[in-house]
Amino acid sequence: MTSSPSHGRKRILSGAKPTADSLHLGNYIGAVRNWVDMQSAYDAVFFIPDLHAITVDFDPAELSNRTRVVAAQYIAAGIDPDKSIFFVQSHVPEHAQLAWALNCITGFGEASRMTQFKDKTQKAGADAATLGLFAYPTLMAADILLYQTDLVPVGEDQRQHLELTRNLAQRFNTRFGETFTVPEATILKESAKIYDLQNPTAKMSKTGESPNGSIQLLEDPKIAAKRIKSAVTDTGTEIRFDLEQKPGVSNLLTIYSSLTGKSVAELEAEYQGKMYGHLKVDLAEVMVDFITPLRNRTNELMADPAELDRLLARGAERAREIASVTLSQVYERMGFLPSLRLAGVR
Ligand code: TYM
Repeated sequence: MTSSPSHGRKRILSGAKPTADSLHLGNYIGAVRNWVDMQSAYDAVFFIPDLHAITVDFDPAELSNRTRVVAAQYIAAGIDPDKSIFFVQSHVPEHAQLAWALNCITGFGEASRMTQFKDKTQKAGADAATLGLFAYPTLMAADILLYQTDLVPVGEDQRQHLELTRNLAQRFNTRFGETFTVPEATILKESAKIYDLQNPTAKMSKTGESPNGSIQLLEDPKIAAKRIKSAVTDTGTEIRFDLEQKPGVSNLLTIYSSLTGKSVAELEAEYQGKMYGHLKVDLAEVMVDFITPLRNRTNELMADPAELDRLLARGAERAREIASVTLSQVYERMGFLPSLRLAGVR
């Protein structure tokens, strides 16, 4: 196996795409919050997948700003760039290089079965879908495999991508010799999927049908509170967790529990005999208390882009030290003629 993580600790890696003006509450509860919890116990790598962001329609001026916003939001949420390796994907060219090698061991049929690709193609139409979108999962596999990652903390929607990554790692190892750690997904059951506030059977996303369905972490806290208060709830009055019968109330309970640390059972007991309105008013307050400092800290960090860029540049250097070792082993095992760079001369 190539470069295993330092100090014998397991390595985790994850990222969130800069495809909107802000991360949303689903990204936070399903992913970023767990990264923050894990970064001390693991050798952690968190990056901003900007190469993935151009697989759908994008605007160049917006992309650079959004990339900095996500960087600022990682830090505001608690990612510590001194503890974790923190960088932008396009700053480490090995991601695109390994992705190409993986494309060449991935079946066309295998890639065609990826549900996220199928969903996005259905929504945007086959003509709007690019080759880049089709190859999205192999780029993601490259992100993970370059760092000999053990665990990938993500939300439920990434499960299939992780399965493909594992298959590709095993396939490569079998054909070319042990090279990659075979990673595992870490999907926390309780927070794996936060639902749309207006359509609580669909996941909260950057592209939901109604803006009222999601909460942006950079949003005016008053608007966030309003969105909670106008969330769609279910028929009946009982405040009880039941995803089938009461998806709206269950989603609010999950959010409440994630932001306060109270268990869903505790919340059910606390709200016994109370109305949906009580739950919403209290959660709206919790939301304001959560969003306000996060938003202020993000704005502070955005006010000093040079410092953010410096942190990202330092992170990219640390990332390249690991990524370049893996890539050179991959190239060597695949039979590419060694170049001076691959021989260690930069
Ligand atoms: P992205 O940018 O769509 O989402 C970032 C993270 O947020 C999680 N997430 C959710 N969790 C719970 N409820 C929701 N409603 C919700 N919406 C999003 C996602 O599961 C994800 O963990 N392909 C990835 C980005 C990526 C990546 C990687 C991740 C690129 N390379 C390598 C891990 C490892 C994505 O689109 O995430």
